[in-house]
Amino acid sequence: MAFIRQAPLLRCLPLVVLCVLTPTLIQTIHQDAMFTASMICHYEAEQKKADCSDRGLDSIPQNLPDDIKVLDVTRNNITFILSTSFQRYPLIQVLDLSLNDIRMIESESFYPLKELNHLILSFNPNLVLPATDLFRGSKNLSTLDLIQCNLKLLPNDTLKWSPSVENINLMINRLTFVNMSLCGRLSFVDLSSNEIEHLTAESFIFGCQSDYIDLSRNPIKSVDPNVIASLSARSLSFGSYPLSLEVLKDIYSGICRSEKVGLAIIYSNFTVLPLDFFRNCSLTFLTLSGNGIQSLSPYVFSNLTRLVELHLSQNNIVTVEPIFFQGMRELKVLNLDNNKIKYINPNSDVWALDLNVLYLCTNSLTEISEFAFLGLRNLTLLDLRFNKDLIVLNITSFSELTEIQTIDLNQCSMSTFHPVAPNLTTLSMNNMNIPSTYTTPRIFLKDSQGIKDLEIRKSSLSTADIWDKTVNVSLFDGLSKLITLDLSDNSFDIRFPDIFPARIFEQLAALQKLGLETCHISGLHPLAFSGLESLRVLNLRGNMIQQLNFEIFKMLDQVTIINLDGNLLTYLDEQLFSNNPRLTTLLLSNNRFTRLNQTTFEPIKSSLLSLDFSLNPFSCNCDIRWFRDWMSGHIFVIDEDKTLCSLASLEPLRGKPLLNFDTSKLCGLNVVLVCLTPLAGIIVVVIVVVLYHNRWQLKQKLFLFKLMAIGYKEMRDARDYKDYEFDLNIIFYDDDEEWVRQQLRPALEERLPQFQRNVFGDQDLIPGMHYLDAVDYVVSHSYKTLILLSRAAVHDRWFMLKIRTAMDHVSDTETEFVVVVFLEDIPDEEIPFLARLYLSDGRPYLHWTEDVRGHDFFWNKLVKNLTINLRTNDLIPNE
Ligand SMILES: *[C@@H]1O[C@H](CO)[C@@H](O)[C@H](O)[C@H]1NC(C)=O
Ligand SMILES: *[C@@H]1O[C@H](CO)[C@@H](O)[C@H](O)[C@H]1NC(C)=O
Ligand SMILES: *[C@@H]1O[C@H](CO)[C@@H](O)[C@H](O)[C@H]1NC(C)=O
Ligand SMILES: *[C@@H]1O[C@H](CO)[C@@H](O)[C@H](O)[C@H]1NC(C)=O
Ligand SMILES: *[C@@H]1O[C@H](CO)[C@@H](O)[C@H](O)[C@H]1NC(C)=O
Ligand SMILES: *[C@@H]1O[C@H](CO)[C@@H](O)[C@H](O)[C@H]1NC(C)=O
Ligand SMILES: *[C@@H]1O[C@H](CO)[C@@H](O)[C@H](O)[C@H]1NC(C)=O
Ligand SMILES: *[C@@H]1O[C@H](CO)[C@@H](O)[C@H](O)[C@H]1NC(C)=O
Ligand SMILES: *[C@@H]1O[C@H](CO)[C@@H](O)[C@H](O)[C@H]1NC(C)=O
Ligand SMILES: *[C@@H]1O[C@H](CO)[C@@H](O)[C@H](O)[C@H]1NC(C)=O
Repeated sequence: MAFIRQAPLLRCLPLVVLCVLTPTLIQTIHQDAMFTASMICHYEAEQKKADCSDRGLDSIPQNLPDDIKVLDVTRNNITFILSTSFQRYPLIQVLDLSLNDIRMIESESFYPLKELNHLILSFNPNLVLPATDLFRGSKNLSTLDLIQCNLKLLPNDTLKWSPSVENINLMINRLTFVNMSLCGRLSFVDLSSNEIEHLTAESFIFGCQSDYIDLSRNPIKSVDPNVIASLSARSLSFGSYPLSLEVLKDIYSGICRSEKVGLAIIYSNFTVLPLDFFRNCSLTFLTLSGNGIQSLSPYVFSNLTRLVELHLSQNNIVTVEPIFFQGMRELKVLNLDNNKIKYINPNSDVWALDLNVLYLCTNSLTEISEFAFLGLRNLTLLDLRFNKDLIVLNITSFSELTEIQTIDLNQCSMSTFHPVAPNLTTLSMNNMNIPSTYTTPRIFLKDSQGIKDLEIRKSSLSTADIWDKTVNVSLFDGLSKLITLDLSDNSFDIRFPDIFPARIFEQLAALQKLGLETCHISGLHPLAFSGLESLRVLNLRGNMIQQLNFEIFKMLDQVTIINLDGNLLTYLDEQLFSNNPRLTTLLLSNNRFTRLNQTTFEPIKSSLLSLDFSLNPFSCNCDIRWFRDWMSGHIFVIDEDKTLCSLASLEPLRGKPLLNFDTSKLCGLNVVLVCLTPLAGIIVVVIVVVLYHNRWQLKQKLFLFKLMAIGYKEMRDARDYKDYEFDLNIIFYDDDEEWVRQQLRPALEERLPQFQRNVFGDQDLIPGMHYLDAVDYVVSHSYKTLILLSRAAVHDRWFMLKIRTAMDHVSDTETEFVVVVFLEDIPDEEIPFLARLYLSDGRPYLHWTEDVRGHDFFWNKLVKNLTINLRTNDLIPNE
């Protein structure tokens, strides 16, 4: 059966497929037509760029616009370039021919390209360049890339015609011979990874002025010092290949016979530095990294009197002594990163250096005595990161590090640190690995009061480490110049759960940025931030704060950014931001807010520019209507699409973006008060007084008039009260029983004698049934339900549940069987959302009045409302 029923569909299938595919087919054919007719390439008219990469081309396409400036034909199958290939495109400036298999280039191929600036021929593995004058026409060539082309031969004086070449990259070829005697001023020549064995006058002729020539990864076997000396290059690089001491000596000796400034000999198995290796020389920059040097000898660098930077990183040096560097008068930067240094100045000698920067990262230092840097009076930066076993660094007044400005101790293991460094401005002690879980770094900064930047992130600090509560002293006392302080990722609370104490930051009058991210803070003392009169940025992200005292931000009158993302906040006090008139950014995402009070935001409404309230369980109801309206204003809402209404929201809003909340539809129109002129005001008052006095007569007249004029034209529910089990169901709060007894019962008996089967409140519910079931039963089986609202009633949860049940039935049955009576005036903000929603939809409601003149009108209207059932109509108000 199933198959037979499907059969017609199956028969239709090809047709359906055809219908679906036809537009695609047409489109495809259309595109193909475009390809073949004009070009297979993508053309960007604005840049005049033709992108023909990866198109399976076997020659340069000849159907491109002839004014192209950029031509990209990488990743094709081009094997030859002819002298006619570029004749059509004289304006090409950038030509990329890489990743083809070009084997042959006719020598006049590039002649038409007078503007050629950038030529890339890299990764053509069988490339052979023509012997003569390939670039004769390319006077403006500035970059030539010939990487990995297996080039065995570079034609003599290839660059003779191109005085503007700046970069030529010949990396990874098979050149053994170079003859470039004529060329312009090159900034960078990369000849690394070739097969050059001899740097001699026969095989290496290089007359170009250049900044830097990279000759590393060449199996250099012999060097003529005169060739090195005659190279007019400022810096040379050798290595990444084991070089013999002979070669190294010849290189160095050549360097010293010229005015070269930079030399790098890296990874060339230069394990021992012979004592007389360095002669007096003009070198200012020397790198000997990665050579496995194990030890240095006294005075080994002494002839390098003009050297400014010495890099000895990635060797195996164990001991560093001042005497190694004796005489290096100009040395400013010494880099000893990534060695195995365990001892620094073990004999407490005096450094006769004017060093500014000393890098000692990633070594094996454990203890640095107070005399280790004796004499380095001008040292400003000391980098000791990643000395994972460094536990002692004594910087005392004897250390003479008077100019030290920056000390980096990240990833060290200091348990105590008390620097006496008056000019210290930047101190980092992040990720300290204190070996024992019971010790935390004991830091004293009272002799380094110039600090401006202090970072102690993720170093197991506890509150006790920054606040000595026995004497009320803070680690930060006296740091009146501190501008940024980052204490993030320390679990302040974990060991001794307590609120974050007062006054820790009291003396930090200059502090602008305070980071307390993920610090396990669960509570803050109201005076925790006192004294921070310059604070701009406060980051408390990712803590466990549940509540904020209304005075917590009172001192922060300069604050512009407060980040409280990822805490456990549920409510913000109305006065929280009363003294933060410069706040521009407030981040409160991922907390537990269900509601907000408009008053809280009044003081910062005009300054605030962006706001993040995403990932909070807002219950969207008319109470936060203002918030929704505010969000849709000028303010920038971060993660707007993640600012959602929770499941506790009104039905249509649950799980939806708060911004979708159509407040005017769900909460009635916002009454905008238009300023009246005083005169109009007076007239209105007079009219109101007159009308008010006669209001009941007027209302009665209007009501009768309405009955007469329009009758009951509304859509009446066809069912009669007799069709129901009960006539009238009255829902009221216990306290209102007296009103029911004294007013309602007599009036109903008099005016609606036909209603005999009435349910008055809970006592008439069907016994034996579950309470809510009984409520539900009565509501659904009554012709009318009357709800009596009073201030006490709306605060009762059970009462509201009953209203909800009734409302649900109104929606379900689409019958207007509920009538609401206000027994007293209820202030707007107290009216529960549910009731407000009901009213705003134009559903029937009446106001009871104590004024006896109004009673007649009230009962007439009630009786009318109780004797008919209209169909609900959400479009036209019923009243
Ligand atoms: C290039 O040509 C070779 C052989 O001629 C062929 O196998 C290959 O698929 C072609 N590559 C492209 C991208 O057309
Ligand atoms: C040469 O190239 C530069 C840009 O590098 C350009 O400004 C200049 O106009 C070009 N000159 C010629 C003659 O093409
Ligand atoms: C370069 O010049 C030398 C000497 O004149 C010559 O022997 C050699 O053939 C030339 N090489 C090329 C590729 O022209
Ligand atoms: C280098 O090239 C120039 C010009 O092509 C030539 O005169 C010279 O002999 C060549 N030198 C060597 C060593 O090949
Ligand atoms: C490195 O140099 C040492 C002696 O200095 C030598 O014994 C060793 O063979 C060299 N290693 C290589 C790879 O050249
Ligand atoms: C310094 O250079 C001189 C020659 O200029 C040389 O004799 C001496 O050995 C060198 N000293 C060192 C320590 O290398
Ligand atoms: C530190 O620098 C000053 C100024 O450049 C200089 O006069 C002084 O000699 C230097 N001190 C040392 C120990 O080199
Ligand atoms: C250096 O630091 C260690 C450990 O903190 C301490 O015991 C020692 O007394 C200090 N030495 C000096 C000279 O300050
Ligand atoms: C360093 O501190 C001393 C006082 O200890 C002061 O005289 C000197 O000027 C400071 N130097 C700098 C660069 O601030
Ligand atoms: C908002 O705060 C004001 C001022 O404290 C208070 O009167 C009002 O009841 C609060 N409103 C809500 C909805 O909490």
